[in-house]
Amino acid sequence: MLIRKASDIPSSEITPHSVYLRRREFLGASLGLAALAAFPDATRAAQIAAAKSPYSTDETPTRRADATSYNNFYEFGTDKADPSAKAGSLKTSPWSVKIDGLVGKPATYTLEDILKPVTLEERIYRMRCVEGWSMVIPWVGFPLADLLKRVEPQNAAKYVAFETLVRPEEMPGQRGLFQPLSWPYVEGLRLDEAMHPLTILATGMYGETLPNQNGAPLRLVVPWKYGFKGIKSIVRISLVDKEPPTTWNKLAADEYGFYSNVNPEVDHPRWSQATERRIGEGSGLFAKRRPTLMFNGYGEQVAQLYSGMDLRANY
Ligand code: MTE
Repeated sequence: MLIRKASDIPSSEITPHSVYLRRREFLGASLGLAALAAFPDATRAAQIAAAKSPYSTDETPTRRADATSYNNFYEFGTDKADPSAKAGSLKTSPWSVKIDGLVGKPATYTLEDILKPVTLEERIYRMRCVEGWSMVIPWVGFPLADLLKRVEPQNAAKYVAFETLVRPEEMPGQRGLFQPLSWPYVEGLRLDEAMHPLTILATGMYGETLPNQNGAPLRLVVPWKYGFKGIKSIVRISLVDKEPPTTWNKLAADEYGFYSNVNPEVDHPRWSQATERRIGEGSGLFAKRRPTLMFNGYGEQVAQLYSGMDLRANY
C-alpha cells in the first residue's frame, strides 16, 4: 500500500466525504449488480486516503485475511469464525452516534458529522488479546480526543462510557436462548486515557473501510490495553463522573478489571499473560511465543497515566 502524508495529497485526489459515504451506491452503479454478485468483495473495498502516523510500529502487519476472519464480536456468535461468516447482515449506513452526559454539546451525530472535520491517519498498532494472541493491525482512524474536544467535556466529566448497537434482527448472537453476554456491549475509559493521542476511533483497516466483523463503521482502538476494550460498532458515547460498568467486568470481575492494561506480570486467574502467540507465526505445539511487553510496548507513552497506582490491584 502506498502511504503519503495527508498534506502531500492534492485535494483533487481525495474523495469528498459525501461521495465516500455513499460509495456503495456508486460502486453498485458503476460495476452493475452482476459484477457485484460475482465479486462480493467489491462492495467492501473502498480505498481511504490516510496520512502516515509517527505512532505506528514498524513491525510487519498481520495478514489481512487473518485479521478479518479470526475475530471476537459476540453479537455475531462466540466462535472466532462467526463474525466474518455472519456480520454481512449488519447495516452500517445510515449510522449515528448519540453523544451525551457531561458535555456542552450533547446530540445525536451522524457518522458524516463525526467524520467531516477529521483527518484520517494510518496507525499500525500492536494489538494484544487477553486470550494470549496478538496481531499487528494497520488501522485507519483519528484520535478520540479530536471528537471529545468538539463536544466540550464539562469539568465534572471523569470517564467516557461506550455502547455497541443492539439490533437482534441483524446480529444473530443477540437472538435465541443462549446469550453469552448482556447487551448492549459496554466499555469505558478514564477521561485522560480517552484523550491520550494513542487512543483512536477507527473507520478502516488495511487502507480500506472497516469490514463489519472488525466493528464497522466506527470502533475504539486502545493499543496498550487488552483487545476487549476495543468496543465495536459504537452507537453511544457518554461522558460521566463515575467509573462506568464494562461488559467483561460485569461477567467475571475477578478475571477482567476496568483498566485491563496489558501487563505480563499480572496473570489472568486461569492462565499466564507473560507470553503471546502472534497470529500467523505458526500454531499448535510448535507455535512461536513472544514475551508480552508491559503496556503492550507503549509504556514510554502511557506509563505516566498510572504513576502511583498499584497495577496489581487495578488490573
Ligand atoms: N465489541 C463488541 N461490541 N462485541 C465484542 O464481542 N469483542 C472484543 C472487542 N470488541 C467485542 C468487541 C474483543 S474480546 C476483542 S479481542 C476485540 O474486539 C477483537 O477485535 P478484532 O476482531 O477487530 O480483532
